[in-house]
Amino acid sequence: MVVATPTMQSAPGDLRAEVLALKQQRCAVILAHNYQIPEIQDVADFVGDSLGLSQQAAKTDAAVIAFCGVHFMAETAKILNPDKTVIMPDPDAGCSLADSCNASALAAWKARHPDHYVVSYINCTAAVKALSDIICTSGNAVQIVRSVPPERPILFCPDQNLGQWVMQQTGRRMDLWPGVCYVHVQWTHDAVLKLKRDHPGAPLVAHPECVGPVRQLADEVCSTERMVKFCRESSATTFIIATEAGMLHRLRKECPGKKFVPAATENCHCNECRFMKLNTLVKLRDCLRSLSNQVEVPRDVCARALAPIRRMLEVSAA
Ligand code: 13P
Ligand code: SF4
Repeated sequence: MVVATPTMQSAPGDLRAEVLALKQQRCAVILAHNYQIPEIQDVADFVGDSLGLSQQAAKTDAAVIAFCGVHFMAETAKILNPDKTVIMPDPDAGCSLADSCNASALAAWKARHPDHYVVSYINCTAAVKALSDIICTSGNAVQIVRSVPPERPILFCPDQNLGQWVMQQTGRRMDLWPGVCYVHVQWTHDAVLKLKRDHPGAPLVAHPECVGPVRQLADEVCSTERMVKFCRESSATTFIIATEAGMLHRLRKECPGKKFVPAATENCHCNECRFMKLNTLVKLRDCLRSLSNQVEVPRDVCARALAPIRRMLEVSAA
């Protein structure tokens, strides 16, 4: 739960300086997801994917974590740091995928499959994490599923596309929750195929939340962080990117001289996550100034959700 406060206007240069001064004053760290607007990425201490952000949150000694991403990400930072202040620029930055699975529905699914091991994608609420055996991100899902004892059948939630991809990679059957990311399912096989024809030789790099027919066309299916590594190391100079548009800023910064073409749907390049884009530099300045929009997770939920997150961090570090 977070509490909102009103925002104020100021000039961009001043605003950036104000954010940096407030950050120092508050002994804060600014963590930003790869989908954040360029102005936020450029003031952040760390920009990365969900795995990198949770690893940063697990090791920070800052008093305040200003989390620029969506609610489940900030919640994860709070679960890892129950005694620190975690703030968000906009408390309404949610996630359609996390919303697709509520804790009581997951509890009922688990009750029907009492012998199953529950692997939850980090894009879920703290209450869902608290009911899970282990958490995964797109960056480590294959490794996490491989770590599940072979005799245990698996329930995987909430993203069915990531789940299908992990099944293909591991050969391990899982029961999938029928959730999707509303952004990543917009790209279609035909529209992406047309783009590939328009840019011959350009590798298609797709997030595993994309639908199967798009993933089938991809040269690389990976988390947002791995996209940077893939494009940096590839000898290609043009890439088609099937993920949220904020990613292009990071890619252009880290791979100068290379060209990035956003994936298209049949009718448009509708590739912005409306939740991620709620955060602005003004809202970041305001929440640092007033320590508003604090993320709270009930202590008992925090305690139960911490174990599966810690398990994930341990498996990832191994
Ligand atoms: P990554 O962990 O790959 O950055 O993905 C997060 C996300 O929300 C994808 O939609
Ligand atoms: Fe959620 Fe999709 Fe937005 Fe990622 S892009 S935060 S999965 S709605």
